[in-house]
Amino acid sequence: MCGIISALSFDDGVSESLLSALERLEYRGYDSAGIAYIDGNSRLHRIRTVGRIKTLREAVERQSVKANVGIGHTRWATHGKVTELNAHPHSADGVAIVHNGIIENYQELRKRLVAAGYSFESETDSEVIAKLIAFNMKSGASFESAFKQAISKFVGTFAIAAIYEAEPDVLIGAKRGSPMAVGLSKDGRSCFIASDAVALSSLADEIAYLEEEDIVVARKGDTLRYEICNASGETVVREVVPNKVSLDDVTKNGYETFMLKEIFEEPRVARNTYDKFDYDVDLSKFPGVSIIACGTSYYAGLLAKYWLEDIAGIHVDVEIASEFRYRNPVLFKNSLYVFISQSGETIDTLCAMRLVKAAGIKTLALVNVDASSIAREADYVIKTVAGVEVGVASTKAFVAQTLSMLLLAKRKADFDIDVVESAMNSVLNKSHEFAKTAEKLKSGRSLFYVGRGTSYPISLEGALKIKELSYVSAEGYPSGEIKHGPIAIVDDCVHTVAIAPFDKHFEKTVSNTQEILARNGKVILLTTDAARGSLHGFDANENVDCIFLPDCDALYQPFPLMTAIHLLAYHTAKAKGYDVDKPRNLAKSVTVE
Ligand code: AGP
Repeated sequence: MCGIISALSFDDGVSESLLSALERLEYRGYDSAGIAYIDGNSRLHRIRTVGRIKTLREAVERQSVKANVGIGHTRWATHGKVTELNAHPHSADGVAIVHNGIIENYQELRKRLVAAGYSFESETDSEVIAKLIAFNMKSGASFESAFKQAISKFVGTFAIAAIYEAEPDVLIGAKRGSPMAVGLSKDGRSCFIASDAVALSSLADEIAYLEEEDIVVARKGDTLRYEICNASGETVVREVVPNKVSLDDVTKNGYETFMLKEIFEEPRVARNTYDKFDYDVDLSKFPGVSIIACGTSYYAGLLAKYWLEDIAGIHVDVEIASEFRYRNPVLFKNSLYVFISQSGETIDTLCAMRLVKAAGIKTLALVNVDASSIAREADYVIKTVAGVEVGVASTKAFVAQTLSMLLLAKRKADFDIDVVESAMNSVLNKSHEFAKTAEKLKSGRSLFYVGRGTSYPISLEGALKIKELSYVSAEGYPSGEIKHGPIAIVDDCVHTVAIAPFDKHFEKTVSNTQEILARNGKVILLTTDAARGSLHGFDANENVDCIFLPDCDALYQPFPLMTAIHLLAYHTAKAKGYDVDKPRNLAKSVTVE
C-alpha cells in the first residue's frame, strides 16, 4: 500500500521530516519513492527514485535541500511499472501531488486533459490529479478551489496531499477510502498530513484522523494552523488524540529485523492481550457467527471456529472477504458478523463489512490499528494490543487476534495465561533449531504444511508465511486430505511440515506422513516432548527431522505452534537471503481490490 507524508513549516528542514517519515512508511510495502518541495524562490522541485528510501535519501542529500513545504510518497505499483516516471510526486504547472488509492475514472479524465493540451509522462492513474488541478487553475480557480473541483470529479479512493509553487504557505489534503491523519509538531511550528500514525510518530504527538470526504487545508501566516471541512464544505473539528505510536514501536531495538523483533514479542503480546481483554459478548444470544477476513486474519478466523464451536457451542462460518462480498450472500439478521483485520484498512474486508451494515446488521471488528477505517465504521470494536506491527508478514498480530477470539469463546475463567506465555518463550529459546531446519527447507521445490484439528489453521498460516517470505510454493492442508490428490506431487524435492503436537490427532497425522515418506517425500515433524515415547523409530528415518516443542493443554497448544511456524518461515527466508521485513510484491495492508 502506498504511503504519503507532507509538511508545512516555519523551519526550512522539511526534507528531513519527509525522509524520516518515508523510512517509517517502508513497512507498508513499496517499490519506489519520491519527494517534491518548493524552494526559497517559489520553484517546485521533484526528486524520485526506484528502490529503497536509502537511494532517495542519498539523492536528496546531494542537493542540500532547504524547504519549508514539501510532500513525499512510497509507491506500491498498481497502475504502471516500477519506474522513476511512475513514481510520485506527480506534477503539472507548479502543482505537485502524492496519492494513495485508485482513481478509477482516470482514463476518461486523462482523455479530456490530453484533448485540453496536457501531455502525460507516466502510466499512472494518479498523474491525472495534478493535471486536473492545474487545468482548473487555468480556468481561473484558486489553488484550493481547483483542488476541491478536481477531487469532486474522481471516482475511486484517495488520500492526496498537494502543494503549489505560487502558494508556498499552503498545504492541502483530502481523504476518501484511504487513511489520512493530520498533526502539529509540539512547538506548533510545523504541520504534517500523512497516511497514518506511524509516519507521524516523532513528528506529531497529537493527531486527528480525517473522516471520509474530509479536506484539510494548512496555512502558514503569523501562526501555522489547519482547518478541516467535510463533504458539504462545512468546517468540522476532528477529535485530536495522542499519537500512540512511539519511536520504540518503529525501531528495531537491537533486532536484525522488525519481523524477528515482533516474533520475539509474541509471548508479551499474549500476556498483554489476556491482561487487557475485557470484552463480554454474550454469544448465547446469537444463533450463529460469521467471521470474514483475508490472509492471515482469515486463518485466525478459522482457528476461532474450532474454539467457538467446541467451547461456546455456537455455529461459525468463516469466509474470505473478497468472495463474500461478491457472491450475494444470504445474511442472517440475528447472527454476529465479525471482521478481523490487523491493519483495519483491507478494502476487501472493509467493503464486506459495509455490505453487512447496509443490511442493517450489527458488525464487530477485531483490529490492531485503533483509528483505522474498519475500526471507525464497525458498530463494535475489539482493539487488539499487539502494538505497531512493522513487518509486512503478520506475526504478533496473529497471536493477538487468535487469543482475543479464544477469550471471547472461553472468557478468563480458569484460563492459565502463564502456561501460554511460558510455552511460547520455550519455543523462542529453540530459534536456533528452526534456523538449522531452515537450511534443509530452503532447497525445497514445494512445501506442504499439514495438521489436524486446530493444527490445520496453523498449517495454513505456516504455509502462507513461508510462501510470502521465501517465495516458494507452499500449501496448507488438513493432513487427512493429502491422500485425496496432493500426494501425487510428492517426491524427493517435496518437503512436508507436519504439525503434530501429542494430542488426539497425533497418531493419524504421523500415519499420514508415513504415506509421504513412502514416496520419498521429506518430513519435518513439529511435535511435542510427550511424543518422544510414541515415535516407534519414525524419527530414525533419514528423511525425517523432528522438532520437539513443550507440551501444554490442547487448548493452548496453537500458541507455541504459531511462534514455531513464524520462526521457521523467518529463518528459511533469511537462509535464502531475502528481505524478511519487506518481501517482494507485498504491502502491509491492501487497500486496493
Ligand atoms: C499476512 O502475513 C499477509 N501479509 C496478509 O495475508 C494479511 O494477513 C492480509 O492482507 C490481511 O491483512 P489485514 O489483517 O490487515 O486485514
